[in-house]
Amino acid sequence: MSFVDAALEKDHTDPLRTFRQHFKLSDASLIYVDGNSLGPLSDLSEQRLHKAVEKEWGERLIRGWNDAWWEMPVQLGDELAPLIGARKGEVLICDSTSVNLYKLVWAALSLSHTNGKLVTDDLNFPSDLYVMQGILENHPGTFHLELLKSGDGISMSQKEIEEKITDETALVCLSHVSFKSAFMYDMKKVTDLAHSKGALVIWDLSHAAGAVPINLEGSGADMAVGCTYKYLNGGPGSPAYLYVRKEIQDRLQSPIWGWLGEIHPFDFHLEFRPSSGIRKFLVGSPPILSLIPVETGLTIIKEAGMDRIRDKSVAQSQFFIDMASTDLLDLGYTIGSPRHPHQRGSHVALRHPEGYRICQALTDPSEGKYTIIPDFREPDHIRIGIAPLYNTFMELVLVVQELKRIVENRVYVNYGKKRKTVT
Ligand SMILES: Cc1ncc(COP(=O)(O)O)c(C=O)c1O
Repeated sequence: MSFVDAALEKDHTDPLRTFRQHFKLSDASLIYVDGNSLGPLSDLSEQRLHKAVEKEWGERLIRGWNDAWWEMPVQLGDELAPLIGARKGEVLICDSTSVNLYKLVWAALSLSHTNGKLVTDDLNFPSDLYVMQGILENHPGTFHLELLKSGDGISMSQKEIEEKITDETALVCLSHVSFKSAFMYDMKKVTDLAHSKGALVIWDLSHAAGAVPINLEGSGADMAVGCTYKYLNGGPGSPAYLYVRKEIQDRLQSPIWGWLGEIHPFDFHLEFRPSSGIRKFLVGSPPILSLIPVETGLTIIKEAGMDRIRDKSVAQSQFFIDMASTDLLDLGYTIGSPRHPHQRGSHVALRHPEGYRICQALTDPSEGKYTIIPDFREPDHIRIGIAPLYNTFMELVLVVQELKRIVENRVYVNYGKKRKTVT
């Protein structure tokens, strides 16, 4: 059976096929494979935002805080919790991923250690590395950063991890799914190993939440952070989340003492008294209008169900890799993601020496029949973000056809190598 026929059949029998209509993706010439950077707008989010602006802000004014706004970071955290295997009272939606990571890394290092290793890897998102570097520069303890290096730039072997997580390790901080290659760690295995050495673990779930099932409680993870604007479809710059396992909340202190983390903010007490539980990690006023689509994004994902999303994601990414292996490898492309689905999140990276110019050709509406939007990551990664809620198998066929045509016909030579601000 040809890939086209297979795609038609798979789309026809897809149990999630009706979910696409929730999203504002009506332009048939646009193929959006960048939901791992910014999820699209949904009808529910648009309607809910409209109501929030018109009624809640427009009419309720300051009364909105007591109506519902004040509790939103906690209440939405409780709604996100089941999706990442957390319990009520363990998750907050607030701040950015970087700021949340700062709070948790600092808190973890201050817990009981005064020295030791902070273990991370070179597959991690650079902002996470910067946050850790900055903390180590300023923390009163004497910690040092141990950067695990991936041998192939795609994955990390369990052996390499076992060698580096030792009795001197105070904290392990990794991305569950790597932003470039989509390599996925076995969360439980790494967490168990870290715990056996007396270390705590923080997971960055940004490329995992809404893409793969996650079980923070079952894995024994201590802390986690992640963003909501990718597979959770929370909108540009929507607030991030943080997770702290209930059993360790009392022992941790946030390094940023803001009034929302105070036990009674409206006492306006002159000295900080931390809230108990997860609330102590709040800092300042929540961005209510940016929180609204996080709620509707979660509603859609819960209706679809994480298991069905994962099943389709595995089927689609395998289908894409099979097509790429058949049609693209002779043209200078290589697969920059793990081949085994249990080691892979929901995007697939293709590498090509002309990756940047190929991306420019894909996204140019005046070139070819389709405008295809992936993203590019240095030095040569074309990331195809597969979002089972709205991407079809046929779209993946068209992406491969275009990737092929652009190189075969040397279409990319018409584009410059100078990078745009956001790639
Ligand atoms: C894995 C990962 N961690 C952290 C971040 C940074 O997130 P924020 O901009 O919310 O700090 C990103 C952003 O894309 C990311 O992909």
